[in-house]
Amino acid sequence: MSYGQPEAGGGLKASPLEQLLIWLREDLMGELQAINQYQAHIDNIDDPEIKKLLAHIRDDEKEHVAEITHTIARIDAVQQKKFAEDHTVDAGQRLAAAPK
Ligand SMILES: [Fe+2]
Repeated sequence: MSYGQPEAGGGLKASPLEQLLIWLREDLMGELQAINQYQAHIDNIDDPEIKKLLAHIRDDEKEHVAEITHTIARIDAVQQKKFAEDHTVDAGQRLAAAPK
């Protein structure tokens, strides 16, 4: 993946807005990976105190996922529209509203 990372030798430079979205998507991937890592550790640690601490941190990462996702949706009109068009649930149950 070199788009938006000219230092990687890809030669393609993203616009400032697209570069911001690239970084936010990368940040989102990191948050999702962190959730999985914390969950794996929670599932494999026996100490209840440590499990509780890691579960708290995992839930903080879930909040970060929501914050970054909402930020991406605010900046990227197409992404916002796609969230609003969620066909996995009925319209009244969608998490995102259609853009005005
Ligand atoms: Fe985080």
